Amino acid sequence: MCGIVGYIGKREAKQLLLSGLKELEYRGYDSAGIALFQEQGIQVFKATGKLHHLEDKLHAVSTQGLTAGIGHTRWATHGKPTELNAHPHGLTHSYVVHNGIIENYVALKKQLASTFISQTDSEVIVHLFEQHLNKGKSPTTAFTATLADLNGAYAILLITEHCPEQIFFARNGSPLQIGFSEQGLFFASSDAPLVGICQNTCYLEDGQWGIANAQEVLLFDTQHQAVTISTSPLPASSITAQKEGFRFFMEKEIYEQSTVISDILMGRLQAQHIHIEEISPDWLTTYQSITLCACGTSYHAALTGSYLLEQLAKIPTNVAIASEFRYRNPVLNPEGLLIVISQSGETADTLEVLKLVKKQGIKTLALCNVDNSSIVRLADKSLLLRAGIEKGVASTKAFSAQIMTLWLLACYWGQSKGCLHGIALQKEIQALEKTHQVLRSATSVHDRIHRLSKRYLHGHGFFFIGRDIFYPLALEGALKLKEISYLHAEGYPAGEMKHGPIALADAELFTIALMGKSRLYNKIKSNVEELSARDSTIIAIATEYFELADDLIKINAYTHPMLEFFEMLIVVQLLALEIAIRLGNDVDMPRNLAKSVTVE
Ligand code: M6R
Repeated sequence: MCGIVGYIGKREAKQLLLSGLKELEYRGYDSAGIALFQEQGIQVFKATGKLHHLEDKLHAVSTQGLTAGIGHTRWATHGKPTELNAHPHGLTHSYVVHNGIIENYVALKKQLASTFISQTDSEVIVHLFEQHLNKGKSPTTAFTATLADLNGAYAILLITEHCPEQIFFARNGSPLQIGFSEQGLFFASSDAPLVGICQNTCYLEDGQWGIANAQEVLLFDTQHQAVTISTSPLPASSITAQKEGFRFFMEKEIYEQSTVISDILMGRLQAQHIHIEEISPDWLTTYQSITLCACGTSYHAALTGSYLLEQLAKIPTNVAIASEFRYRNPVLNPEGLLIVISQSGETADTLEVLKLVKKQGIKTLALCNVDNSSIVRLADKSLLLRAGIEKGVASTKAFSAQIMTLWLLACYWGQSKGCLHGIALQKEIQALEKTHQVLRSATSVHDRIHRLSKRYLHGHGFFFIGRDIFYPLALEGALKLKEISYLHAEGYPAGEMKHGPIALADAELFTIALMGKSRLYNKIKSNVEELSARDSTIIAIATEYFELADDLIKINAYTHPMLEFFEMLIVVQLLALEIAIRLGNDVDMPRNLAKSVTVE
């Protein structure tokens, strides 16, 4: 993960770098640091924890006239989140910021026979660079020789006193782009720091590297051949998300879901049929099977999507976790379609799956929330999620948007194939149209969940259980609770409990049962009875009174399972939120996590 920024121009660099890092803080908040060129040498400032610690440190420091530098916000991969491990890493003359993982850093450290200050993999980069310089190489040759030594993923910015006011840069597997503005030249890990400042940007490709000063950028490919810079326009102004009276962004985003759902349907439901402008029915119906691939919450959306695609479009569908899929030498159907799902569009494992599958000539579709992200740029086609900026590290509205888009896609596919029509199609359209109301009214349960949450701040674990589409929802409910409350929670298929996990059952094991009336209700009832018989405390999310529930969170009864799904989704999100708030946690920036996972 981590975010990197760089600037060379006419303006004071400190504030520009700090503002850029603020925009990238979602990529990691274990520490932050900047390095600035000054008349004699390079000046470095670092602080652990969130960016405001670095800002506080720099508040009284005069950096007037210092107009070039690099910056970093860290999500720790190698070494604890300490100041010594914070970037920029440097020796006396050169400093580097890095996002990615240098896989051969242990071997390189052994070869280098120098003293390392940090426990990071990144520090080897600057040692290698200085070693090549000491052997008499020019800075440019030392930089390319350093890159040749590295295995793994990286986006790198390096500055050296030997070349004042110049930035060496390289990309391989981790995002990096250059922003062009009248105020100077910028580098960043994503669009966010550049929007509103730069008019154009150049997204670097893997293997590209170069050298920049305020006047020009030299860009090269892996063969050291000069590359012509091609740019894409950036929006003129950024939309910044505000909490708008809510305590946390996550809370606001839970409440926004109803509006997001309406936005997703806009222009797509037309006189009794579904139309998705970005995809033609002919394109869809050429595929014989689907593989859905994603990570984390997006994986849970993929799993839900697999039920919907099979049930509504009658198409064989596999689901895979990207970090597993990419290494299992997958045997892919040449007539199949790969669908990757990602909020950020930058998740390293998902991106690598996309590359791997594309190499095999298989067509790809991305469901993504961020336009211009690496995944959107690479996929053959993409459907943007229309969820707006999601700031909370725990994903909420992007998940609803993914589910809604997959449901819509499944209906569209079924309609295009001719297997979903007539009353069945109308039933889906009516339910799609009703979803935003369901999400809006579901938040009325918030007060009750707030009161209930005080009973669930301890215990030795939570099991979220469900069947059919409520099983992926159980996984998502457990993930939300884990992420922000730091309590142990697992999502499980209700029917599987008796195959092992039921051994854990006692009064301190909290079972959250997602008891959708519309799918396998009697089956899950029996599964809950088995847990209750072993004294597990039962929190039932159900449409009707259930005598074995220690606590019941009542939801409305709907005949369509997806309406029950969305109503229960609000319940599990709010439950996690209220428990985490009572425990005093930072809901929007939970410990050890980052919003965008750009390392594998
Ligand atoms: O940006 P992506 O959707 O590709 O991210 C995938 C996961 O990292 C993400 O969903 C993560 O699990 C969230 N923190 C869940 O709340």
